[in-house]
Amino acid sequence: MEGSREQVGVVGVGWVGLVTATCFAELGHPVVALDIVEEKVEALRRGEVAIHEPGLADLLRRNAERVTFTTSMDEVLDAARLLFCCVDTPPTYSGDADLSRVRAVVERLPDHGGHALVMKSTVPSGTGAAIRRDKPDLAYVSCPEFLKEGSAIKDFMHPDRVVVGADAGSENAADAVERLYAPLGGEVVRTDVASAEMIKLASNAFLATKISFINEIANVCEQTGADVTEVARGMGLDERIGASFLKAGIGWGGSCFGKDTIALKKLAGNTGYHFQLLSAVIDVNELQKRRVVAKLTNHLGPLAGRRIALLGLAFKPDTDDMRDAASLVLAARLQGEGAQVVAFDPVAADRARDLLPGVEMPASAAEALEGADAAVLVTEWPEFAELDWAELRERMATPLLIDGRNFLDGNALRAAGFTYDGIGRAKVGA
Ligand code: UDX
Repeated sequence: MEGSREQVGVVGVGWVGLVTATCFAELGHPVVALDIVEEKVEALRRGEVAIHEPGLADLLRRNAERVTFTTSMDEVLDAARLLFCCVDTPPTYSGDADLSRVRAVVERLPDHGGHALVMKSTVPSGTGAAIRRDKPDLAYVSCPEFLKEGSAIKDFMHPDRVVVGADAGSENAADAVERLYAPLGGEVVRTDVASAEMIKLASNAFLATKISFINEIANVCEQTGADVTEVARGMGLDERIGASFLKAGIGWGGSCFGKDTIALKKLAGNTGYHFQLLSAVIDVNELQKRRVVAKLTNHLGPLAGRRIALLGLAFKPDTDDMRDAASLVLAARLQGEGAQVVAFDPVAADRARDLLPGVEMPASAAEALEGADAAVLVTEWPEFAELDWAELRERMATPLLIDGRNFLDGNALRAAGFTYDGIGRAKVGA
């Protein structure tokens, strides 16, 4: 290491890898970042960032001199001792994580090159041990990422905690990783590899559990007349529970929760343990996406021939990511009922088009609502709260609004002539 600068290698420049490479460069470290996709590397060399992540393109531009993009593993191995593995681990047909890209990286590492592999990719507990069985001389550190899409740079720069898992023989590499993260100030959890791997899966599974729990409470609130947003407020003030991840809605999605809950369930199952609670968490989420169809039917009767407008398609705001988005299930279910589906998303429409055949996608919310029998707010993009709803009401065939994220002011919408139906808010707008 030269002063407080450490040459960092990043393998895989998808979303996690690019954020990691850019943020280490911002901290002053020279970074060599590898991807096997030539066009991606060339675009990044030109400063073009294909991912919608607020602030990322600007931060990369500011640090362009410190980040080298390459397709050559030899270049990375020559330059850096610490190699952050950021390749993706998507689910296979069996639901287990696909570790083929991780294995491909490991195979390229020389046995006695003095490198340390720092695993950022989400892998099942036990992966690090298996890698070290194959390569006993490779230093190995598990350092899972906890970045949220849409606030990844802030999350990287201000971590709640930094998990650094290492077993005997990898202590120096773990110390080096700790030093890299030290300026960021998050509490360091120094532990063994298997526990570090499990911290990541368990954290995401727990967050998903919180959401499925509040969604079930919301469904009960609809029967009892309580308002789930009030219930969540009252629960969240108990510091043992905490206020975050208690927003009821039409279900969680994204690149991590679906994949990681299933991976943990399968991991447990493969060891002979049936993780019942997690199975329920996953089932509740699948049903939650479909409940909107029942709500629409309650208000409109059969949906065949009805025009239903979806506001928002991305799995959450501030991203164009469509992975596991509730909109995909909802649109397909509505089409299955014979409805005509029209959708507007300010950022994700281009990415969504191929995934949603038969869904019309005009260029504005107002056009999407033209002649609609109902609007369903799917993603809480801030601009939807700024719309002139009184004017939009006139454009719709039926002024029915299903607020899938409890995002809009139900009482104001009701005053503007809408029938408003949120999630778990029986009395709001009734
Ligand atoms: C998540 C984890 O938060 C992050 O730590 C991990 O590294 C990757 O997975 P992300 O997928 O970016 O991050 O999204 P997040 O903000 O956690 O939201 C996940 C989903 O849960 C979204 O669909 C969101 O709409 C939903 N959600 C979140 C709720 O329905 N209610 C809530 O209260 C919070």
